[in-house]
Amino acid sequence: MSPTTTPTITTAPAAATTLTTPAPSSTAPTNGSLAPTPTATLAIPTPSPTPAPARSSILGLDALFTNPVFAGGIGLAGLGAAAAFGRRALISGAALLRRQLLVNIEISKRDPSYNWVLAWLAQPRDTNTGFLARRLTRLRNLSISTATKSLSPRGVPDEGGAAAKIHADFRVQPGFGRHVVRHAPGVYIAVNREKAGTATTATGEPHETLTLTLLWMHRHVLADVFTEAHALAQSFQQGKTVVYTARKMEWAVLGKPRLKRPLGSVILDEGVAEGLVGDVKEFLRAQQWYTDRGVPYRRGYLLYGPPGTGKTSFIQALAGELDYSVAMINLSEVGMTDDLLAQLLTQLPEKSILLLEDVDAALVNRRQRDPDGYSGRTVTASGLLNALDGLAAGEDRIAFLTTNHIDRLDPALIRPGRVDMMVRIGEATRYQAAQMWDRYYGDIDEGDKGRERFLRRLDELGLFGGDSSDPGVPRRHTSTAAIQGLFQFNKGDMEGAIKMAEGLIPRTFEPEQPSVEGTIKAPA
Ligand SMILES: Nc1ncnc2c1ncn2[C@@H]1O[C@H](COP(=O)(O)OP(=O)(O)OP(=O)(O)O)[C@@H](O)[C@H]1O
Ligand SMILES: [Mg+2]
Repeated sequence: MSPTTTPTITTAPAAATTLTTPAPSSTAPTNGSLAPTPTATLAIPTPSPTPAPARSSILGLDALFTNPVFAGGIGLAGLGAAAAFGRRALISGAALLRRQLLVNIEISKRDPSYNWVLAWLAQPRDTNTGFLARRLTRLRNLSISTATKSLSPRGVPDEGGAAAKIHADFRVQPGFGRHVVRHAPGVYIAVNREKAGTATTATGEPHETLTLTLLWMHRHVLADVFTEAHALAQSFQQGKTVVYTARKMEWAVLGKPRLKRPLGSVILDEGVAEGLVGDVKEFLRAQQWYTDRGVPYRRGYLLYGPPGTGKTSFIQALAGELDYSVAMINLSEVGMTDDLLAQLLTQLPEKSILLLEDVDAALVNRRQRDPDGYSGRTVTASGLLNALDGLAAGEDRIAFLTTNHIDRLDPALIRPGRVDMMVRIGEATRYQAAQMWDRYYGDIDEGDKGRERFLRRLDELGLFGGDSSDPGVPRRHTSTAAIQGLFQFNKGDMEGAIKMAEGLIPRTFEPEQPSVEGTIKAPA
């Protein structure tokens, strides 16, 4: 008997439960023997290890996940997300650590310490450090700050002359970018010098900042840094007078600090310089007195007189004597307004003498403005009065005003509170001429014979105001600037100076006659 084949009805996928019912054989046994009893088998197969075919999922996700390319992509994306998350965590961790462990100090270019700290950073440092420290502290972005001075052939600074050589002193400073400097063993300072993309300062230069970063535990070092930087800046200015000038909205150092002018080199009439110096020193000693009485701690001086009599030179020498700087404002400068003047006066540089030259210029401006109502950007008389002694006036100030035309000044300007002491610095007197002679020829003039002849010559020329008893002598005057010019022309030559004394007679210049043919001359 041949085995009976059992037909299978599949109603579910292979993986599903299969109900198998044997159907009656199509080929019935012919020998009358009984066919085996049909059996119903309920087969519950174990889950297949292989994924079900795609057609069995509603969304077809199974097929998608079985796709190795897709699965790989998902894996990679997961890895990427993890990396991004890790990175963010690391960044926030680092920021947190920075906040907790580091201290930053930002110095703006506007702050006076900016240049001090830059100069301090440029100082040579100990390179005898470890391999890593040497590499870490290597400056890669540098900028140069050059200082020049003229040296005589003998190497003496500021002696000038045709044969003078220009000596250049190049200082390397950390440039823009990040640097690390080693302050002391184990103490490092990260420096970041940055320039703003746009010009934000009043001078039109891009704004700059310097950020110093230290470990929190080294924060006490900051005090040392600023103290050392300040001391270094002062050592550069030792024996010098710094002159500030108004540049747009702020004070800026004018040129290089000048060598201090000795007070003895400015020869005023007998007792004048001593009186002024004594008064200023007394004022400086009396700060407590002013504070106790609630009076503004200010003093104003007006030096007036003809040109070239030593007004400006005296103020410069006085600043040197007091170890002060000079803060100078030109009132007739275009762009100098009342507001700007008031603002500048309230923020004077520390330890400085305010110098307002040619104060009569403020009044002239007012007169020019009246007829057509023109209001150029210049200081008015009332603006000057308010800046000196109004509500906006700064405290703690020594002001020196100068003018060649005291008669043009508003009486309100020279009232006490604005001007407390007025001194006329006049034409050269016999005393001044003798003193100046001694300064220039004292070492070669034996027995002062040359000086006596020089003074007699000046008397003859009537240069000390003439002789009231002798109408034959003209009444003239000369300036100390003219005498200085004469002596400088005749260096070491007393006879030459006496011979050329006539040159001290002030010259009067006739106004030029307009040419009939016009100013363009025809070729001959
Ligand atoms: N009394 C003086 N003693 C020494 N030098 C003097 C004296 N007066 C003038 N000088 C010299 O003359 C020059 C001009 O002097 P200074 O500028 O101080 O004059 P000034 O009175 O301020 O003049 P102006 O009123 O024109 O501003 C300087 O080089 C200065 O050295
Ligand atoms: Mg002057």
